[in-house]
Amino acid sequence: MAKTVRKIGLSLGADICWPICYEHIVKQLGLDVAVERVTIEPFDLRQPCSYDVVIDRLTHWYHPSREWIKKAVVMDDLYVFNNPWSVQSNEKQTTYCAMMHLGMPIPNTWLVPPRSYEPLPDLQPTLKSYAKLFDLGALGNAVGYPLFMKPYDGGGWKGVSRIPDEATLRTGYDSSGKLVMHLQKAVEPYDRFVRCIGLGPQTKLVRYDPTAPLHDRYTMAKEFVSADEAQLLQDTCLTINAFFGWDFNSCESLRGTTDGVWYPIDFANPCPDSQVTSLHYHFPWLVMANVRWSLFCAMTDRPMRKTLDWEPFYAIAKTDQPYRDKLRGYARIAAERFDTHRFEEFCAKKLANLDDIALEFFGTPIARDAVRQKVAALFPPHEIEPFTELFWNRIQAWRSDVQAARA
Ligand SMILES: Nc1ncnc2c1ncn2[C@@H]1O[C@H](COP(=O)(O)OP(=O)(O)OP(=O)(O)O)[C@@H](O)[C@H]1O
Ligand SMILES: [Mg+2]
Repeated sequence: MAKTVRKIGLSLGADICWPICYEHIVKQLGLDVAVERVTIEPFDLRQPCSYDVVIDRLTHWYHPSREWIKKAVVMDDLYVFNNPWSVQSNEKQTTYCAMMHLGMPIPNTWLVPPRSYEPLPDLQPTLKSYAKLFDLGALGNAVGYPLFMKPYDGGGWKGVSRIPDEATLRTGYDSSGKLVMHLQKAVEPYDRFVRCIGLGPQTKLVRYDPTAPLHDRYTMAKEFVSADEAQLLQDTCLTINAFFGWDFNSCESLRGTTDGVWYPIDFANPCPDSQVTSLHYHFPWLVMANVRWSLFCAMTDRPMRKTLDWEPFYAIAKTDQPYRDKLRGYARIAAERFDTHRFEEFCAKKLANLDDIALEFFGTPIARDAVRQKVAALFPPHEIEPFTELFWNRIQAWRSDVQAARA
C-alpha cells in the first residue's frame, strides 16, 4: 500500500529557533506530513530508515550522524540536504578551483604548505625528499597586496587575516601553525558585499556588513543591486549549489569599486547561518524557504542525486561564449536539477496558504519565545530581554513590509 504520511527528520545541533518555527508552521499547514527530530543512538547498518527527507544541520562536524545519513541515502532512498559526501569532500579550495574552471572571476589565489606539522612517522622523509623551499615574499608579490590569508577549508572566520604587506605576511604565516592556508588577493576597495542564500531553487540576496557587530551583519538594506546584478548573483549561487549538490548554501560576493565586477570570495558554506540572532529580519524567509523545499522533496518523492555529474557544466565551460552567457547556461542546468518549474507549481497548488500562516505565526507568543530561547542561549543575562526585543521588532518589521506589499 502506498505510504500516505511523509516523514521529515530534523538533524540538529545547536539550532533552537528555526526548528520550533518550522514545526509549528508545518503543523498548521495540515498536510499528511510528520516532523520529528533525529536522535543520536547506535544503529544496525541494515536497520530501515523511516524518514523520507532529513534536513541536516549537524553532520559536517558530528560524524556518527553523518555515517547514519550516508547509510540511509545509500540503503533506504533517503533525501537529505545537503549531500553529505559533497559536504565532506568539497572544501573552499575545490569550490574555488571548480568555479574558476567555469569562468567565475575568483580573485587570484595560491595554496601554501603549512608552517608546522603533526610529527607522523613518514613526515621527515617526505618533506626531505619533496618539500621545495619557497620564498614567501615572492608569493606575496605574485598574489599582490593587500591579500587575505585564510584556511583552504575555512569557516567562521577562523584563521582569517588581512595582510597589507610582506612583513605582516611573514609574521602571519609564522604563527599559522598547522593550518593549510590560501593567500588570496583582496577585493579592495569594494562598494557592495552580498550574501546570496540558496535553498533549493529559492534565493535571497542580503547586503552584508562584515565590520558590524554580529547581530547587524545581515543588513536590512533594500534595493542595493540592479535587477541585472541580482540575476547574476542568483545565477552564480544556483550554479554553485547545483554543481556541488548543495540544496542549502550561501555565496558571498564583493563588487569591486574600480571595475564594478562581482567577485565571489566564499561559497562553500553548506551549513549556513540559520539563527534569528544573525538573520533577524530575514529569518522568516529562511524558515518558509525550508518549509517549501522540504515539503516539496517529501511530498513529491524527490529522488536524491547521490553522485555529482559535472559534465554538462564542463561542456558549457568549453564553449567560446562570453561568461555571462555561460552562466545563463549553468543556471538552466541548475533549474533542471532543482526542478524549479515543478517546485513553483507545487507551491502554488499545495502551499497556497503558507504565506498567511507564516505571517500570523510570526506574530504569536510561540514565535517570540523561540526568539527568546535562542537569545538566552547566546547572550549574557542582562542582554536577553533587550536583544529578544530587538530581533522580535525586526521580525515585526518584516510582517509590516509583507502586509504593505500586499495592500
Ligand atoms: N578576497 C577577499 N577580499 C576582500 N575581503 C575578503 C576576501 N577574502 C575574505 N575576505 C574578508 O574576510 C571575511 C572572512 O573570509 P571568508 O568568508 O573567506 O572566511 P570564512 O571563515 O569562510 O567566513 P564565514 O564562515 O563567515 O563565511 C569575509 O567575510 C571578508 O570580509
Ligand atoms: Mg565567508
